[in-house]
Amino acid sequence: MTTLTEQTAVQIDVPASPTYAPARVDDVAPVLPVVGGSTLVPLVDGREVPYANLDVAASAPALEAVAERVRRVLPLYASVHRGAGYLSQVSTALYEQARRTIGAFVGAREDDVVIVTRNTTDSLNLLAGCVPADPVTGRPGRVLVLDVEHHANLLPWQRGADATVLTGGSTVAATLAELHAELADAATAGAPYALVAVTGASNVTGEALPVEAVVAAAHAAGARVALDGAQLVPHRRFSLAESGVDYVAFSGHKTYAPFGAGTLVGRRDWLDLGTPYLAGGGAVRRVRVAETTWHDGPARHEAGSPNVVGAVALAAAAEALSAVDPAVLHLHESTLRARLVAGLEDIERVRVVRAWDDAVDPVGVVTFTVAGYDPGLVAAYLSAEHGIGVRDGRFCAHPLLGRLGFDAGAVRASVGVGTPGSDVERLLSAVRALVEDGPQAAYDVVDGLWVVVGDPRPVPAGLGLNGLLATAASTTDAFGCTTY
Ligand code: ALA
Repeated sequence: MTTLTEQTAVQIDVPASPTYAPARVDDVAPVLPVVGGSTLVPLVDGREVPYANLDVAASAPALEAVAERVRRVLPLYASVHRGAGYLSQVSTALYEQARRTIGAFVGAREDDVVIVTRNTTDSLNLLAGCVPADPVTGRPGRVLVLDVEHHANLLPWQRGADATVLTGGSTVAATLAELHAELADAATAGAPYALVAVTGASNVTGEALPVEAVVAAAHAAGARVALDGAQLVPHRRFSLAESGVDYVAFSGHKTYAPFGAGTLVGRRDWLDLGTPYLAGGGAVRRVRVAETTWHDGPARHEAGSPNVVGAVALAAAAEALSAVDPAVLHLHESTLRARLVAGLEDIERVRVVRAWDDAVDPVGVVTFTVAGYDPGLVAAYLSAEHGIGVRDGRFCAHPLLGRLGFDAGAVRASVGVGTPGSDVERLLSAVRALVEDGPQAAYDVVDGLWVVVGDPRPVPAGLGLNGLLATAASTTDAFGCTTY
């Protein structure tokens, strides 16, 4: 019998990650231009420097091509699926064309449905309402997830479905073996899983299980696979048809199209039978006071006026990314990642977080800690003294951070198509300076958030932001940002 590890070795076909650690990457240019690529930000010492956006895993800047498409369609904007006017018809055509482009971008099969949502979280909540009940017991469908998941791919399943959260092993091979055993045991016990929901790339470490191996294990046990593609789709070519994945969810704001749209793409039958995600206009064929007949297809889950600008932006990003040679995208990102990891590990007191020792080809997301410094202080220092944007905290992945021993949080740097290598070098120099010399400004914790004492940095003028930076600490803390 072929073991899962052997299957993995046979099935995975990924470009090799560079095994070298490039000495420096200052000369590595962005692959595609992004809006804000040269925005200047103030430092506490009064200087201004170009913003080094190393937080694209949270939200990626718009591609120039996306912004240009949005500028072109705004004068054509009118109601979608609701108007007889010429521009309403143009907007409806743009929306439906965007749907086709998004589907093609992720290799949708002929019968797959492309639903425009707000983001990955929205998409997976939608899908959670469509997992069919067990046909024998009538109980909610069983869903298997790993504890490495982002909350977007954990919490929706805990609500509507019968979710089991499997603790990942320390290697990919061990984790796949656990997954396989759990699926087989459940099927043997007469309580098979309906769905395995798995990340395409961890938002903490960039690592992933080989998706083809997950699909093989799930399908062999009669389960479908939903992929949280939030961190994968912006970074790698992905195809539903080629991978065999049944559903993929991803976000426009992480795919260089921050205009409020995301998507869920996948098999029609569950989506056509599932409870309409939002009850409202556009999702219905006929409404009487006592009875409603719902649409099927994407309209069933898209009640309310559609986000045509968001959908068009996401489609424009899909077109722009598709037009780049995948080998170029891959080499750019894996080179920056390799330098980041090697450079960080070369700095005393820095530790890079890994979920699996044997992960293949992680995406450009690297999380680390600096011994002796709270992650919030490291992030505040990088911003205030170096103009570098990173994320700190627990990254909406509390179970994973807890299991790996990082309950106090960590710092995350992430790169994308618009990242120049010089941003990576700036981060490495700044972290080295922190370790060697400590921070130069004074910092304090206000309402749970690290801030510069008497932060002198001005806010951009003309946007009604007077004083917002000073109050942002308490505002964000009120929303629990530090514990994200
Ligand atoms: N899910 C986003 C992240 O990981 C926000 O940062």
